[in-house]
Amino acid sequence: MFQVLTMLLLETQLYVVSALFTIEVPQQLYIVEYGNNVTMECRFPVNGSLNLGLLTVVWEQKRQGQSKSKEVYTLRNGEVFPPSQHHDYIGRTALLHSELKLGRAMLQITSVKITDAGSYLCLIDYQGVDYKYITLKVKASYKRINTQVMRKPGEDKFVFVCQSEGFPLAEVFWQNEHNFNLSRSVNTTYTLTADGLYNVTSTLTFKPNMSENYSCVFWNKELNGDTSAHISISALLSTQYSRQKSLILFIIPMCVMVAVLPSALILFQKRKSFKNGQPKKDRKRKSNPNVKDEKRDDFNSQTEALYMTTVTASRDSGSVGL
Ligand SMILES: *[C@@H]1O[C@H](CO)[C@@H](O)[C@H](O)[C@H]1NC(C)=O
Ligand SMILES: *[C@@H]1O[C@H](CO)[C@@H](O)[C@H](O)[C@H]1NC(C)=O
Ligand SMILES: *[C@@H]1O[C@H](CO)[C@@H](O)[C@H](O)[C@H]1NC(C)=O
Ligand SMILES: *[C@@H]1O[C@H](CO)[C@@H](O)[C@H](O)[C@H]1NC(C)=O
Ligand SMILES: *[C@@H]1O[C@H](CO)[C@@H](O)[C@H](O)[C@H]1NC(C)=O
Ligand SMILES: *[C@@H]1O[C@H](CO)[C@@H](O)[C@H](O)[C@H]1NC(C)=O
Repeated sequence: MFQVLTMLLLETQLYVVSALFTIEVPQQLYIVEYGNNVTMECRFPVNGSLNLGLLTVVWEQKRQGQSKSKEVYTLRNGEVFPPSQHHDYIGRTALLHSELKLGRAMLQITSVKITDAGSYLCLIDYQGVDYKYITLKVKASYKRINTQVMRKPGEDKFVFVCQSEGFPLAEVFWQNEHNFNLSRSVNTTYTLTADGLYNVTSTLTFKPNMSENYSCVFWNKELNGDTSAHISISALLSTQYSRQKSLILFIIPMCVMVAVLPSALILFQKRKSFKNGQPKKDRKRKSNPNVKDEKRDDFNSQTEALYMTTVTASRDSGSVGL
């Protein structure tokens, strides 16, 4: 029950003439896109010039399935009355004052949220009391669809992913050019975002026909029309190529670093040992100018160096754990 109705029931007993005072709603249902503005209107009779001091306008909202209503906007005896406004609406509502003298109580809500949807009670007290209900529906189209393609490791299957946010919950269909139904390999899941939107993720795991394009379609009967994203295999192959390229660009410097670092270390160590008067190994090598052997020797010390760093690292982490 709307809170203000209790007050109304008391007041109607005072206003015997209230039957003469009726308000009207030119539009009973408003459907607005998430994030947009909406202006809802109630009309009341003004005979001549408006006496603002006698006017009280109350807007309350009640969501479906919720017992308590929220106060959206209150004008009491011509004065804005913000203390009782519900925090959900702070800074987002206005009553268009210039319209009041025309007998129009127009409530504007900016950047509409999913939680704004519901039934709105518009109550006007102007030497008589009356109220009406207006329904506000909020929808959010699945406008931006993010796509992703992955290759299943060790298989010739691909995983196509489409993800988008909207409201209400949409179904996701996958198609190729011949409208062939691919639903058997589809898994669609969703979560709710903090804003009350559905975050829908749909995956299609299959072996694609390389000469065809595929698309995912987000559909809900309440949203006019559907939105879709297309995945073209040729584009996919080119992205794969570029990813491989960037991988190579990453791997080569890594290999160089891995190879250079230990040898630099060994060189440094050798120099140190030479300075310390222990040039035994070096002298031995010089006396044996077998290039192959020297290389192998170098390699062995390299792996050893690597092994050592690993051990130190794991010991380090071990001590951190203790
Ligand atoms: C909503 O209203 C605000 C304030 O009046 C305005 O700044 C904004 O541009 C409007 N937004 C849209 C989408 O009309
Ligand atoms: C409007 O006001 C005039 C006088 O100011 C009065 O005669 C008339 O009955 C009023 N009409 C209504 C509908 O109240
Ligand atoms: C669908 O995906 C979800 C989340 O990734 C997973 O928990 C679930 O088991 C999957 N269902 C099927 C039928 O593969
Ligand atoms: C929606 O879900 C995807 C993964 O399923 C996640 O990466 C993304 O951050 C989510 N978006 C929001 C706004 O919650
Ligand atoms: C792949 O698609 C092409 C063109 O639509 C079609 O001719 C071919 O038979 C398809 N191949 C397979 C294996 O379905
Ligand atoms: C697939 O899409 C790409 C780019 O959108 C297009 O060039 C190509 O002709 C399409 N292939 C088919 C079989 O329709």
